[in-house]
Amino acid sequence: MTAAHLTARRAGPLKGTVRTPGDKSISHRALILGALATGVTEIEGLLEGDDIKRTAAAMAAFGAGVERLGEGKWRVEGRGGFSEPADVIDCGNAGTGVRLIMGAAAGFDMAVTFTGDASLRGRPMNRVLKPLGQMGATWLCRAGGTLPLTLKGGNLNHIAYRLPEPSAQVKSAVLLAGLHAAGGAEVIEPEATRDHTERMLRAFGAEVEVREEDGGRRIILGPGQRLTGTKIHVPGDPSSAAFLLVAALVTPGSEVTVQGMLLNPLRIGLLDTLGEMGADLSVTNVRDEGGETVADITARHSELEGVEVPPERAPSMIDEYPILAVAAAFAKGRTVMRGLDELFVKESDRYALMLRGLRACGVAVEDDRTAAMMTVVGTARANHPVAGGAAVTTHGDHRIAMSHLVLGLAAEQPVRVDEPGMIATSFPGFVDLMRGLGAEIGEA
Ligand code: S3P
Repeated sequence: MTAAHLTARRAGPLKGTVRTPGDKSISHRALILGALATGVTEIEGLLEGDDIKRTAAAMAAFGAGVERLGEGKWRVEGRGGFSEPADVIDCGNAGTGVRLIMGAAAGFDMAVTFTGDASLRGRPMNRVLKPLGQMGATWLCRAGGTLPLTLKGGNLNHIAYRLPEPSAQVKSAVLLAGLHAAGGAEVIEPEATRDHTERMLRAFGAEVEVREEDGGRRIILGPGQRLTGTKIHVPGDPSSAAFLLVAALVTPGSEVTVQGMLLNPLRIGLLDTLGEMGADLSVTNVRDEGGETVADITARHSELEGVEVPPERAPSMIDEYPILAVAAAFAKGRTVMRGLDELFVKESDRYALMLRGLRACGVAVEDDRTAAMMTVVGTARANHPVAGGAAVTTHGDHRIAMSHLVLGLAAEQPVRVDEPGMIATSFPGFVDLMRGLGAEIGEA
């Protein structure tokens, strides 16, 4: 997509049944573990967003055979480890990609230089470098622990690392480095975060022990694990489905079904929250697909009520706060969101951009950044929805763009977003899919 802007405006109801693209977290991991393993990994349903294409290219640069066989169908031939790439590894916009790959690469005696786009070059890498350094890796980087950086790994030792922030990326980086560390690795997470790495390591034949501990978890990866290529079926991404579901909830007369959405309990905090807001959501056809539970979710336009979102729910819906804030804007009453610290360091400062975007669209938002808390004052009144009518700056953040487009579908005045090409990092085809449901989104 080359348009400089996209504008969403109010039109008829959204109707239809769609499949969301493959899960971004699982797609990154399938490629990385496939490349680290010995033998062939066949992947179905891989997300073909820009972030994932970067990871695929990186795995090829580390020596794996990476081949696209058809839509979402990929074959990775792992060589049982990484070899030194001939050039810089450019992860584009992908924080998950670069942090996981750094962890995986740290296990090998080689120097690798990583970089990314302007957004990624501004994001903190210290959170990953700190544990990797404790394991024995060294690096040279820009001030503040930002990309570009060169990482030198090999000869790693065991670590038992307690996560200072609830980050599945950091957990995964440590576990992937632990695959080639003497003694393996342990991660203690005070709050449980998405567990795709643990699950997938097992699918590749590794032994991973998970102990529940004081409300959190201790994940133990023993020494000397060998990964063997396998088959991976990537389920639909709940973080992408979220935009479709909320679009249906806030647009009068809508009914949208999203098929094959991942229902991993560590990913669906938004469903719980929307349920508490009174959303008409039905979950059908619950089934197991490749070791994960998936289901079809139907959302119908609903009169939503404001709620207090428990802060401990944040890790299970961290990427969904922008679209939750949009749902909250159309609700009756106040929606209080706490524990939002991690939003400051996503693809953009999502806290700041949601505040600015919602206010520009006429939504009252109370902010307390120091307390990492935000309250959206819902505008629901008969025949008087959210005003809209703003041009929103997204700082190249896909989720900020999609959230404001959804807002525009149900607002009084159209909403315009910039840098819409970035939507393809996580949800290629978003605009066409929305148009197919009846949304009016134009390139202007
Ligand atoms: C992800 C973890 C989360 C999430 C990101 C994907 C993952 O980041 O925001 O989109 O795949 O591990 P953090 O680990 O920084 O919370």
